[in-house]
Amino acid sequence: MDGGRLRVEPVGRDDAPLVHRLTQAAFAEFRGALDPPSGADTETADEVAAAIDAGGAAVAWIGEEAVGAIRWTPLPGHLYVGRLAVLPAHRGQGVGLALVAFAETQAASLELPEVRVEARSALPENAAFFQGRGFVVVEERLHPRSPAATTVVLAKPVPTSGPGTTSFVVGIPGARTSRPRE
Ligand SMILES: CC(C)(COP(=O)(O)OP(=O)(O)OC[C@H]1O[C@@H](n2cnc3c(N)ncnc32)[C@H](O)[C@@H]1OP(=O)(O)O)[C@@H](O)C(=O)NCCC(=O)NCCS
Repeated sequence: MDGGRLRVEPVGRDDAPLVHRLTQAAFAEFRGALDPPSGADTETADEVAAAIDAGGAAVAWIGEEAVGAIRWTPLPGHLYVGRLAVLPAHRGQGVGLALVAFAETQAASLELPEVRVEARSALPENAAFFQGRGFVVVEERLHPRSPAATTVVLAKPVPTSGPGTTSFVVGIPGARTSRPRE
């Protein structure tokens, strides 16, 4: 037992059902609230497995409870990160921050100099979450499924030197969660 510390671990395609469950729970708040709807609404566990095959994913744990997930895809010049998901009951405790920090280590280990994410312009709090973590808006574009909606692309440079990380433990003993050390 690890005292309820927050840790982030990479997962494989066999864990796609878990990543799918976490994503569905985190994105449930957007059902019926976004135009066009989030792609997460109709995503299947098989599609999550395919996404993991195309890149990778990690799950955040507090003790034995899975509380969040993130995915990434290597693209020319950057690591695209998506479907950042934290269970509602575990938000505001640094879980999202730890998952993003983990993805940044994956970019570094793949020698990709930048991490990119895309957020709906209609959800400025999402862009603000990333901007508070060193990302800057580099582009605003039309949503591919609806010209009535726009998205913002945010990018953050990451150092490419040094070894990658295979797992990630943050927090202090006895604390429920904490910020990763920087
Ligand atoms: C966006 C999302 C991933 C954020 O997850 P989260 O775990 O709440 O994120 P964090 O806890 O790391 O950060 C949230 C706030 O808690 C603060 N925080 C970080 N560590 C903390 C700690 N140890 N104790 C208390 N607060 C903490 C952060 O500073 C942050 O505040 P700020 O954004 O006002 O600066 C989550 O709300 C979510 O899953 N939303 C639905 C899906 C979604 O929109 N995904 C993003 C798609 S682009």
